[in-house]
Amino acid sequence: MKRDLVSFSLWSNKDLGEIFSLGRSFKSGERREENLMKGRSAALVFERQSLRTRVSFEVGIVELGGHPIFLQQETIGIATRESVHDIARALSQYVALIVARTVRHQTCVQLAESASVPVINALTDLVHPCQILADALTLQELGKFGRSTKLVFVGNGNNIANSWLELAEKFPLTLVFACPPGFEPHPQILQQAEQTGLSSIRLVTDPVEAVSDADIVYTDVWPSSGRMDPGERRADVFTPYQVTRKLLELAKPECLVMHRLPANRGEEITGEVLDGKQSVVLAQAANRLHVQKAVMTHLLR
Ligand code: NVA
Repeated sequence: MKRDLVSFSLWSNKDLGEIFSLGRSFKSGERREENLMKGRSAALVFERQSLRTRVSFEVGIVELGGHPIFLQQETIGIATRESVHDIARALSQYVALIVARTVRHQTCVQLAESASVPVINALTDLVHPCQILADALTLQELGKFGRSTKLVFVGNGNNIANSWLELAEKFPLTLVFACPPGFEPHPQILQQAEQTGLSSIRLVTDPVEAVSDADIVYTDVWPSSGRMDPGERRADVFTPYQVTRKLLELAKPECLVMHRLPANRGEEITGEVLDGKQSVVLAQAANRLHVQKAVMTHLLR
């Protein structure tokens, strides 16, 4: 039976462990799988803009021997020109895999339900599993993945925050979310992660309290899909949550800074911190390629 990566909910700790291990061997060059997708194509169905996700998937597909076909919303008209169900069924006749970046999570769920080939979530308003896999791999490489690492997510409790919570159901982590009231992570995802009881999870409103003794400070843009309109800034609410050098002084001296990029410099993070020596944002971006090749290999072999 085909499998999808829509969120982590149907993925076990063992499956995800295999993704990390495959990702490491792709990165080191120990594994190549240049023929895995030979003679096969993958459709990239994107309703939103993308740089890292599109390029890392296209490069990954080519490196696995396949052919990527980029399909933008303007060209295919998801749910306007044609129903999600019909698009998924038609694409399944031509391609071995669908990578989908959709505005609404439900669109990605529907694509996966209707397609007879695997569907990979490349960002929805609810979760961003590929990003969090790359982030987790980055932390593993730095020896900072696990319960003894205090990861503080500062700002808008969005799709990135939700995916961290989903991962915390599979691996023991210590997560603190410092979010303004009304911008907390998704309540059901939060509750489920807390009920699983594997990780230590705390939700606070005060970024100063949260960042104290942090090993990792993670932030993301304030306007986020599903939470605010793209143009909306809400500086009144979010300014205290800006990741600055001053805020980082409260964390451990060796604290690292993460951001999935693109960043709005001078909003959720200062340019100085983003470019500073504590920042690992380029390592995160680089690891997208390796973990996504691992996910595609896991789903297609
Ligand atoms: N949280 C951001 C992620 C973009 C890759 C958003 O949803 O807009």
